[in-house]
Amino acid sequence: MTNWSEINHNAREWIKEAGEKIKHSFNKTLVIQTKTNANDLVTNIDKKTEQYFIGKIRALYPDHKILGEEGFGDDLRNLEGIVWIIDPIDGTMNFVHQQRNFAISIGIYEDGIGKIGLIYDVVHDELYHTQKGQGVYLNELLLPPLKEVNVSEAIIGMNATWVTENTRIDPSMLSPLVKHARGTRSYGSAALEMAYIASSRLDAYITLRLAPWDIAAGIIMIEELGGVATTLKGEPLNLLNNNSVFISRPGLHQEILEKYLKNGKW
Ligand code: IPD
Ligand code: CA
Ligand code: CA
Ligand code: CA
Repeated sequence: MTNWSEINHNAREWIKEAGEKIKHSFNKTLVIQTKTNANDLVTNIDKKTEQYFIGKIRALYPDHKILGEEGFGDDLRNLEGIVWIIDPIDGTMNFVHQQRNFAISIGIYEDGIGKIGLIYDVVHDELYHTQKGQGVYLNELLLPPLKEVNVSEAIIGMNATWVTENTRIDPSMLSPLVKHARGTRSYGSAALEMAYIASSRLDAYITLRLAPWDIAAGIIMIEELGGVATTLKGEPLNLLNNNSVFISRPGLHQEILEKYLKNGKW
């Protein structure tokens, strides 16, 4: 029998320790490289942090598999067994430019089912954590289930990219939603934006393309609180591929899907 409480305990200890290491890097010179384009950044700290988790997991749980953004884990073709999906720093651009508004995100799945989700806002020392069936916590505080709200009362996480000329979506599709919502925000870390829905700082989050490690932990938290996590078409998210992502409180998810997203071509 898998001891999930023990895995949860260890993962939380490791994420805090990794956070400490990241904080210590703040007064050292970063090695910054670019990946797919000039704005897609990666640093030596992203890589070191992923390697730190892999070292810990391999030592204690050699039969677990690891999917990590920076590629030091396994090359996975399926989600069979126990899989750790890790984003060592979500919001690298914020990490580099602001030294805040980034998080470590870890989702642990068994045969594709979310078991443990951890999102750690290192600078604010806010650890969002959940173990399936046991509620979602922000540090020691148990978060309440998500209530319904209307679009007119909702703050929606959305990047300005999607209402300007871009390759993925006609910008006029999302502008009515921006107009009708109470407000929009863009924090630059998908994991934090999902954690903010969990803690009711945001009501929904919409984006056209995310990788599995951006969302693996957040999905578990949102679903645990009664929220809904799908693609922009309302379809289930796939953790082996990139997805468009629409996360929301219940009720609001249906309203936005029907009034604003249903006829889109994504
Ligand atoms: C990025 C952040 C950002 C999102 C990008 C992601 P990274 O992750 O989550 O908010 O808009 O699509 O790639 O690269 O900083 O881990
Ligand atoms: Ca990245
Ligand atoms: Ca990310
Ligand atoms: Ca990252």
